[in-house]
This record gives sequence, C-alpha cells and structure tokens, in this order.
Amino acid sequence: MYRTHTCGELIISNKGEKVTLAGWVQRLREFGGMTFIDLRDRYGITQLVFNMEADADLCMQARKLGREFVIQVTGTVAERSNKNPKMPTGDIEIIAENITVLNSSDIPPFTIEENSDGGDELRMKYRYLDLRRQNVRSNIILRHRMAQEVRKYLDGEGFIEVETPVLIKSTPEGARDFVVPSRLHHGEFYALPQSPQTFKQLLMVAGFDKYFQIVKCFRDEDLRADRQPEFTQIDCEMSFIHQDDILNTFEGLARHLFRQIKGITFSDSFPRMPYDEAMSRYGTDKPDIRFGMCITEMTRKVQGRSFPLFDSAEYVGAICAAGCGAYTRKQLDELTEYVKRPQIGAKGLVYVRIEADGTAKSSVDKFYPPDVLKSFAVITGAGAGDLILMIAGERNHTLNALGELRLEMGKRMGLRDPSVYAPLWVVDFPLLEWDEETKRFYAKHHPFTAPKPEDLEYMISDPGRVHANAYDLVINGTEIGGGSIRIHDGDIQSLMFKTLGFTEEEARHQFGFLLNAFRFGAPPHGGIAFGFDRWAAILGGSDTIRDFIAFPKNNQARDVMIDTPSTIKKEQLDELGIAIKWIENQ
Ligand code: AMO
Repeated sequence: MYRTHTCGELIISNKGEKVTLAGWVQRLREFGGMTFIDLRDRYGITQLVFNMEADADLCMQARKLGREFVIQVTGTVAERSNKNPKMPTGDIEIIAENITVLNSSDIPPFTIEENSDGGDELRMKYRYLDLRRQNVRSNIILRHRMAQEVRKYLDGEGFIEVETPVLIKSTPEGARDFVVPSRLHHGEFYALPQSPQTFKQLLMVAGFDKYFQIVKCFRDEDLRADRQPEFTQIDCEMSFIHQDDILNTFEGLARHLFRQIKGITFSDSFPRMPYDEAMSRYGTDKPDIRFGMCITEMTRKVQGRSFPLFDSAEYVGAICAAGCGAYTRKQLDELTEYVKRPQIGAKGLVYVRIEADGTAKSSVDKFYPPDVLKSFAVITGAGAGDLILMIAGERNHTLNALGELRLEMGKRMGLRDPSVYAPLWVVDFPLLEWDEETKRFYAKHHPFTAPKPEDLEYMISDPGRVHANAYDLVINGTEIGGGSIRIHDGDIQSLMFKTLGFTEEEARHQFGFLLNAFRFGAPPHGGIAFGFDRWAAILGGSDTIRDFIAFPKNNQARDVMIDTPSTIKKEQLDELGIAIKWIENQ
C-alpha cells in the first residue's frame, strides 16, 4: 500500500503517530522558513509542514513541487497551533520526514478548488480535473449512494434487475431517435432506446412481475439544464397492480431516498393533484408547491369594460404577489419584459397595486374604476401592500405564461428554498394531445398508456377528452418521474394506434412484436421511470443535471473532452454502406 491513511482521516487522537499519505498537491505556501502543502485525495485534505531549520534538503525538495503533483509523504501527526475548524483534519498537520514524487503534473488549466477560476467549457474539456474538486466529486458520490439505496429498496420489495438491449428498433413516436447503422445489413439501422418501455412490458408478459433497471436512455432532443441526450432512468414495471399500488410503492422509494440521503421524513402522504387542477392553478403540469400564489381566472370579471386586450382574450388570469405592492416602475417593466420574452410570449402584463390604505392603483385605471379594481383584490385574495399581475390571451398559452411568472416571482420573493422539498403526484393526464401543425393526435405519455375505463367510450367520438391512467412524480417544480397503467388488451391497443393515425400495417411494422406478445396472456401491468440525474440534482440542491453526471455533454450535445461527435474514416463509412450528403449551411 502506498499509504497508511487517507487525507480525510487523521484527527487529534492520531497525534504522535507515524503515517504515510498519498495524494495530489493542492496548494503550496511558504512562510519564512516553513513550507505548507495541502495534500488532497478523494477523502479530504491534510496539511503537511516542512521546516527549513529541521531539514533544509527536504524543505527545498517540497518547494520544487508543483500543483497537482502526485506525492507520497511520511511524517508524524502533530497538533496545529493555528487550527482550521472548517476542515475535518483542521486540528492536525503532518510534520513531513520524507517525500516521494509519484508523478509530476503540467500546470492545470484552472484551479482545482471549490471556487474554480475555470469557465464551463474549460472545465468540461478537462473534466477529470474538474472531478478532483471536492464539490463536483461529492455530487458523483451522492449519485452513487442513491443508486445503492434504490437497489436496496427495490430488491427489498421483490423487484428483479434485468438488463435490456441498447441496439433496438427505431420508432416514430416520442423524441427523435439516435440511430446506429448496421454493417451487416446495409441500409438498415438500429436505434438507441429512448427508454426500455416495450422491453419492460415484454418482461411482464414473460411473468417477471416486478422489474427494475438503472439504465441509460438516449433522446435526440433540444437540450436544457435538466435534459441530456443520454441520461439515466430508474425504470420500473409491475404486474397485477392498480394505479394506487404503483403510487404507493414508488412513494415508498421516494421516502426511502429522502430519509437515507437527506435525513428527511415526510409526515403526510404526497398530495395527488389532477392534471386539470395543476394546469388551471399553477399553469403547468409540474407545479412547484413550495409556495402558493396560485392562478385565479379573471376572464368574466374583466371583460365588457372596453379594454381591448382583455375583451378579445379567450382567457385572462392573475396571480397575487403578497407584499410586492411597492414594486417600482422599473421592476414592473422588468417583469413585463420577462413575460414578453419569446420563450414565454405574453403580449403584456397588467398590474394592480393595493396601497397601504387599501386603494387600488393600476396600469389600466382608465378602464376599471376603483371599486372594480377592489373587487379584483377580493377574488385574488390581495390585501394592502400586495401586487396583482394579470395576463390575457389564448387559454393554455396564458396559463403557461402565468405559471412562468409565478415561478419568477417565487424566485424573487425567496419562496423557492432549495432545502425545502415539496413532492406531489400529478394524476389523470389527458391520454392524447392535439398537434395543430400535423393535425393529428399524439400520445401525451406514450402509445401503450391505458385510457381510463370510464372514458373509453370517447376514444372515437371525442379522443381529446379521454383521460389516462398516467401519473408524474413532481418535486419542487421538476418532473422527476412519470408512468402509467398500460393497455394489456390487444383490441384497445389497436384502437389506440388507430386514434394515433397508424394504419393496421404501420402498427404491425412498428410494434408487431408487442401486439404478438399480447396474444399470449399479457397480465394487467403498469410502471414508472424516474429521471435519475434529475433526482440526484434535486437532492444535491442544483438545477443542473450536468453537475451530477461524471462525463456529461455540453449544451450543443458535444463531449468537448473526447471531442465527439466527430467524423469517421471513409473506410468505416464504406463498410457501413453510407455516403454523407453535405447540405449547405448545416
Ligand atoms: P418519460 O419520457 O416521462 O417516461 O421519462 C421518465 C423520466 O425521465 C427523465 N427524463 C430525462 N432526464 C434527463 N434528460 C432527458 N433528456 C430526459 N428525458 C426524460 C424525466 C422523466 O420524468 N417509458 C416511460 C416511463 C413509463 O411509462 O414507465 C418514460 O420514459 O425525469
């Protein structure tokens, strides 16, 4: 062994012991005749001391070390005169007696400390150096601990971990597939799985009853802070269950993780909120319920007073920001700009300020006399010193805009405390979603999701009103997981494909294997998949899943460290039977 102890281990009770440590030189400082080195490994940092008077040769040797040199040091544990209570090893230091340089290092391109001076791109290029930083490393360790706890819990509940293939068949639904050309079958392609959805259903047909897998999924979609082209799911499926069984089992998993990882226990069961309520009160299907500030519909209340913006709108809604009545003109202009940004796309923002004396002042005083403005305060629950913010337009679009504004106000008002966790289940999603562009229905979740039995009668006459046995777990405004009860009846599955505009032949071509399997005794089944990276980020108190992935892609879907995607040799292309068609400006 190169070491007797790690760099995070020695404390005052080790005083006087002779020890050997190995690690990286984080920092070197000289004070008169003394040289101090912070030696780092995965476990922590220990201070080494070299004294010119005691051993000039050794001290000179130490002074030649550079940042990130790998060294082995032997010495005696001593009590520090200048203790550092912020470090677990801060009471001691090692009086060095011998050092061996195990490897030298180039000067690192950024400082490898908690607050690095490296920009994002640079740190990604040298991700292995970034991973040496304590805060980045602890994210990866948190992820590891979560994975162990997930396995422990699910194994305890009788789930079996089964691996499913990575080279599968491309399907047109959902996000875009990443495809892999076949050398043996020119002109044919595998796809990387967007999820193991059909395989886990086949495992239910196979009688496995309770399946799980911590599995890589691949989706070629536009990236955001909570999306990566390859990400990890905790994927699960169960047989002979109803929706409640799934929600209870996986609420159990969530509770287990919160307890084991964060020491948090929730006394109440997670609320279950219908999708329609989430949309009308929070303007989103993933509400952040750490705070209220719910949306109030104002359409009927505000119309008929000759204010064209409101009169012509399908929907007018408001939120009430408590205590923000003193917002300045500048702050209100900022909010207006915020909701007008193309991502949100509101036409404008109307405000009503409730003054300390209860009088109402508004940007639309011209159309609404004081008593009407006061009635707005009554229905939105606004009191003295509060601010009512209103948006008008097409219903869904406006609800989304109000939802975004609510989150922004929540942030400004400090209501989105990352140390507070507010989980909930959103249930009763619509089965289908109408797409105006292609003039057809798409599956809101996926084509295997079961319609609610009571809505089956509308599958043909009015598909838009059919609800699904589908559910999402949402924590602090992030969709952590989603799933559904599946269709296990071949006839209903065929009806679903028909509603989605598949011909019999297309359905057979894409999903024949599943439809075939269903002819051999498919049990009632359902499941869920959690975004493992997102869950880790939430528990780690961050919005960015990249921080919890050892080697992530950047927001152009590139890995700048290994420099990919990259071109391949002509011989490789020839072998695959592929010719590149270069399109100008692409
Ligand atoms: P869904 O598509 O909702 O369901 O995905 C499940 C969860 O995976 C996470 N997620 C992502 N995380 C990071 N980057 C991405 N690009 C990304 N896309 C999704 C989210 C999401 O809630 N097969 C179904 C599940 C089922 O029905 O059982 C599925 O994949 O947290």
